[in-house]
Amino acid sequence: MIKIARIDGDGIGKEVTEAGVAVLESLDLNFDFYEAEAGRECFEKNGTTIPEETIKVAKNTKATLFGAISSTPGEKSPIIVLRQELDTYANLRPIKSFKGIDCLFNDLDFLIVRENTEGLYSGYETIDETKDKAIAQRVITKKASERISKLAFEEAISLKKESVTCVHKANVLKKTDGIFKESFYKVAQDYPNIKTNDYYVDATAMYLLIKPQEFDVIVTSNLFGDILSDASAGLVGGLGLAPSGNIGDKHGIFEPVHGSAPDIAGNNISNPIAMLLSVSMMLEYLNETYWAEKVKIACENVLEKGKVKTPDLGGNNKTMDVANEVIKEIENL
Ligand code: NAI
Ligand code: MG
Repeated sequence: MIKIARIDGDGIGKEVTEAGVAVLESLDLNFDFYEAEAGRECFEKNGTTIPEETIKVAKNTKATLFGAISSTPGEKSPIIVLRQELDTYANLRPIKSFKGIDCLFNDLDFLIVRENTEGLYSGYETIDETKDKAIAQRVITKKASERISKLAFEEAISLKKESVTCVHKANVLKKTDGIFKESFYKVAQDYPNIKTNDYYVDATAMYLLIKPQEFDVIVTSNLFGDILSDASAGLVGGLGLAPSGNIGDKHGIFEPVHGSAPDIAGNNISNPIAMLLSVSMMLEYLNETYWAEKVKIACENVLEKGKVKTPDLGGNNKTMDVANEVIKEIENL
């Protein structure tokens, strides 16, 4: 029995998680799902965006499937709390073009590895009594920088990629990104067969627009990774297709990159592909490589055939139509 924590969240988080669970249940594997609450609705009901019970449930499983939440002003972000509590220190965001999808680039296949526990999202933010000045602290440690670099090189090997690029702003953030960059090159010495280089984050933003094919694996700090990965998702067809995995030594949390999309929520027209590709990443993390590959290829085939698709891709199908088509495709593979 594979124990999975299931956190649907808000808005389309519920729709795409239902699709993800339907696909998992169609596989020849046995799952036990442990449902837990988080998000805006949870806050309205329980007065907290993430109850202790949810953290406990997630800690008792190896993998968590997370839909999406609506943020609650002034309250802590449940996904950031979860990432910290479970020490999922790496956020993996594959950027891949799909056949049959009209997008800016049709030949991309790279991975963004984002440090997930510190940087500008460390949670050290204060405002003075005058309310005129607020300060956020950017924490960068050698330990976290080295372990994220190591993971990026290991991913490069397992994906058979040639190079790893470190993205930073060490010319201005001399001390924090000084550590980040130095740690990267220190770890690189253990991987003599992988090419390395480093770019400033602003230049990287431009390179992603003019020559994204150049990238294999990008490793970067928390905020830079957040921004660059959303932008990169835009290169290959948008948020409805962008999966992610938060990986630690003991736990993994798998979630689409997108949010709760209140503009379309409730109509069952959200695209479940980002979630289904996250499901594939989860299966890979659980060493169910055979099924991980099947789910991924089935998603790719459904996109390429283009017969069943949600409105964001120009179709008029519902969320579960796409999920059911993926299930059929898996059966035929
Ligand atoms: P969003 O990702 O929810 O939506 C952005 C745009 O993309 C919208 O037009 C939406 O309709 C579209 N979109 C997103 N996912 C889609 C899908 N699967 N299928 C079809 N269209 C899709 O971002 P937005 O609107 O900035 O944020 C909405 C809420 O979600 C906010 O409360 C935000 O804080 C939260 N959020 C939560 C995240 C999480 O749970 N990890 C991540 C990002 C935002
Ligand atoms: Mg983001």
